[in-house]
Amino acid sequence: MSEFHALVPAAGFGARMGNGLPKQYLPLAGKPMVFHALDTLCSCPEISTVFVVLAPEDTLFHTYDWSRFGDKLQPLFCGGATRAESVANGLLVSELEPDDWVLVHDAARPCLTQAHLAKLIGELRDDEVGGILAVPVADTLKRADTGQRISCTEERAGLWQAQTPQMFRAGLLAQALQQCSHVTDEASAIEALGLRPKLVLSESSNFKVTYPQDLLLAELLLNKNR
Ligand code: CTP
Ligand code: MG
Repeated sequence: MSEFHALVPAAGFGARMGNGLPKQYLPLAGKPMVFHALDTLCSCPEISTVFVVLAPEDTLFHTYDWSRFGDKLQPLFCGGATRAESVANGLLVSELEPDDWVLVHDAARPCLTQAHLAKLIGELRDDEVGGILAVPVADTLKRADTGQRISCTEERAGLWQAQTPQMFRAGLLAQALQQCSHVTDEASAIEALGLRPKLVLSESSNFKVTYPQDLLLAELLLNKNR
């Protein structure tokens, strides 16, 4: 039977956050940001192993105590120059079975819940291709001109915002990322193979912490869910 594993790319710098500390280690609800996603993934009984992909020069990971997660949490110091490279390197080093499912999840989405995970796994476990958590676009979309004035209004119908986890068979995903390395998410690489990943309805609470003003919202949600 194929197993479920998680792979968390956490080898970025957080340039848009603009803090001296890499984003994944910023304090959030009393823990480094990456703790929250790792905690949720390690607490999911369906998931066998949680790999966290760190920069080769990372010196911060081992300054925290991760012993509560035991062997289920596996740090891999093989991050690359881009998110796609970090994921591809992690897949190579983790040596998963090609048929195993891998759930790739951003370290910067700390508000992921067990309910989100259960929905994703439940809807995709018998799927041919795999898929992603996503939310339909709610706001009206404007295209900007070079002077930051509105040049037109874009059609919103049928547009979704991609989140993570993104869940694919390990072998297929490794092959897809090998052939298409410039992508910003796993689904794009799978799409480039001509396949059509499923959109699994998520919630906006599973947002990506990107800018300094996102930290307060994430902290409020984490404290509420405790
Ligand atoms: N990531 C990674 N390796 C990289 C770049 C990003 O593992 N070379 C990870 C980040 O650590 C993060 C996830 O990919 O957990 C999502 O990326 P993003 O939110 O864009 O984080 P950063 O790239 O660190 O931030 P920024 O784009 O603002 O620099
Ligand atoms: Mg980035």
